[in-house]
Amino acid sequence: MAGQPKLFLQHKIRYEILGGNGLSGIEIEGLCPLDGEIVIQGSKNAALPMMAAAVLHRGITVLKNVPRIRDVFCMMDILESMGCSCELEGHQLAIDGQTLKRIAIPRAYVTAMRSSIVLLGAFLGRCGEAATYYPGGCSIGSRPIDLHLYGLRKLGAKIEEQGDGKIAARADKLCGSRIRFPFPSVGATENVLLAAVRAGGTTVVEGAAREPEIISLCRMLNGMGARISGIGEDTIVVEGVSGLHDSEYTVPGDRIVAGTYLSCVMAATGRACLRGADGAELPEVLKIMRHMGAEVETAPSGVRVSMRRRPKPVSLKTGPYPGFPTDLQSPMLSLLSISDGCGQVRETVFEGRFATARELRKMGACIDIDGSQAVVSGRYPLHGAVVSAPDLRGGAALVVAALAAEGRTEISGCGHILRGYEDICGDLNALGARILRRPEETAAR
Ligand code: UD1
Repeated sequence: MAGQPKLFLQHKIRYEILGGNGLSGIEIEGLCPLDGEIVIQGSKNAALPMMAAAVLHRGITVLKNVPRIRDVFCMMDILESMGCSCELEGHQLAIDGQTLKRIAIPRAYVTAMRSSIVLLGAFLGRCGEAATYYPGGCSIGSRPIDLHLYGLRKLGAKIEEQGDGKIAARADKLCGSRIRFPFPSVGATENVLLAAVRAGGTTVVEGAAREPEIISLCRMLNGMGARISGIGEDTIVVEGVSGLHDSEYTVPGDRIVAGTYLSCVMAATGRACLRGADGAELPEVLKIMRHMGAEVETAPSGVRVSMRRRPKPVSLKTGPYPGFPTDLQSPMLSLLSISDGCGQVRETVFEGRFATARELRKMGACIDIDGSQAVVSGRYPLHGAVVSAPDLRGGAALVVAALAAEGRTEISGCGHILRGYEDICGDLNALGARILRRPEETAAR
């Protein structure tokens, strides 16, 4: 661990104290049909901006059904290092924003979690001041933040971009404004909403993202006393308020985790009931999965899936909600790799999402990439191999592929998977998978 920044080490220690099952790798014996019921964890992408929203209030915000994952622990660390107090008991997180003292996010945290950028809008809304660093590119793409900065500037923030990648933002007074996004960025929409809640006057956000996580954030903010309308539409209107109050909100089930587990059942064959999954949040995914041969039933309590055969091939294109989510593109690549024919995927959101293909090829997958297009010729089964998780969803996709592979697959780099999945091994083993966890060695701590 030599060379790791001190803050990162603190975060890792907290992770272990909180009972995160650190993993250096996992081993999967494939071709084992699944059967059973699991509960879907709370949504990572909903919980993180909600934690940022808590900063807007000088008091207590309670979030229920918070997933116990690395990104949440990292956000807790950031909030605590800024002076807030965070108490996580089970899946209930109480954040006290009263004691917020600092508004400069250390670079180590920004590197560990790019989505910490949403704190920029929250700190500006609360204190009229914020500082952070450029998140920089990552394995899934270049991750620019121009739309975030454009929106915050329209609200009156003066933002200085300094040579070392530091961003310093200040606003004597944030003022409502008309903001028009050329692309519905999830993070930029969240950042602007967080800053606009306590701005003077009315903010109109046109071209806003419509992802379910944006809807949850708006509902939570309204529960704190914000005045937001147009929720779920591409134009959102925020009437600024001068103060917020204590509140409680339940984080919804994670639609991406649900989509991953649906893919697992489709790869392994069998059936499962995913309690807490909301089928209405996966319109395009369920449509594609049905085309591939899955029988899917949705109910208020969850989603049931059954798969009896090898998937049929499909062509799909990722896109902003309600399009096919880019986060489920990698698991879909795994499913197409075992399909009964030739399928295609076009990635329109993050250019680097095809890194998983390199690892899938080691398992026998036949994937040709040309720019943003992948052509996949299915073969069944794949074969076990030693592979490495390239990123969070790419890691999950390797688990999906390993369930349809003959023999043993060893996946390293599982730290990526732990950022977003609370207990992927335990959940799949409860359905009858054969997954062995290789715990992190003490010497490596
Ligand atoms: C969020 C999700 C991520 C998901 C993505 C798209 C979280 C923590 N992460 O990421 O899992 O895959 O939405 O659904 O919620 N862009 C710009 N300029 C900007 C901002 C974005 O050009 O200022 C581009 C990005 O490079 C990308 C596209 O817009 O090509 C989508 O990005 P965005 O919707 O902002 O994704 P994130 O909020 O980063």
